[in-house]
Amino acid sequence: MGIRGIVLAGGKGTRLGELTKVTNKHLLPVGQWPMVYHPLKKILGTGIKDVLLVSGTEHMGDFVELLGSGKDHQCALTYRVQDEAGGIAQALGLAEGFSAGHRSLVILGDNIFESPVTPMLEEANQHPDWAWIGLKEVPDPGRYGVAELNGKQVVGIEEKPKNPKSSYAVIGVYIYPPDVFEIIKTLKPSGRGELEITDVNNHYLRQGRMGYTILEGYWTDAGTLDSLVHANSLVYKSPPRF
Ligand code: G1P
Repeated sequence: MGIRGIVLAGGKGTRLGELTKVTNKHLLPVGQWPMVYHPLKKILGTGIKDVLLVSGTEHMGDFVELLGSGKDHQCALTYRVQDEAGGIAQALGLAEGFSAGHRSLVILGDNIFESPVTPMLEEANQHPDWAWIGLKEVPDPGRYGVAELNGKQVVGIEEKPKNPKSSYAVIGVYIYPPDVFEIIKTLKPSGRGELEITDVNNHYLRQGRMGYTILEGYWTDAGTLDSLVHANSLVYKSPPRF
């Protein structure tokens, strides 16, 4: 069993207004690169060389023009089209053939953070048949998936709760065993009409197959005007390590 990398770079980016009228959110600049370089370089930093990029029909051509075969990044890139935005878990489901029989390291294309992913992967490698999530304490947990902890155990995850049970946001870096695709097939759309990655994670949690790593250094998403500016200023002050 090996491990494959997956960058999820779909969605409409509506929270960014005019900035995403003619392009994809993940092609906007964060520091010296288009945003999508950040998750890609985090994956490559772990030593993974096979990476799948999922995006919608509108801008897939731009991603191919930007990244090509992956040769310039010493990796092999595969592209998969998500016909309609149906949530993170739905996008991940498109990786079934690509990751068949392997584990998957999944990074959301708009997650920008300082530390390499390698320490988290090394911890997860202790339990190859578990799901593994990254957590980060944030001042505004209600914007994210929020993990309730009891020592080394995650006891519950809630998606964008009104009354968060902790200040630990579930970041957009996930490691899954090969059976994640079977779990995705059992999901029903949430209130916002999406297949939720939080539902996938809660499935593993109920089975006692979930671990976590608390990320060091800064972390932010970059999907709103405020967070995009914030991501740029963090990266400018202290470049991320891969
Ligand atoms: C998604 C996930 C959420 C997670 C966040 C991290 O939220 O649903 O659990 O905390 O990414 O960036 P979204 O950006 O789709 O609102």
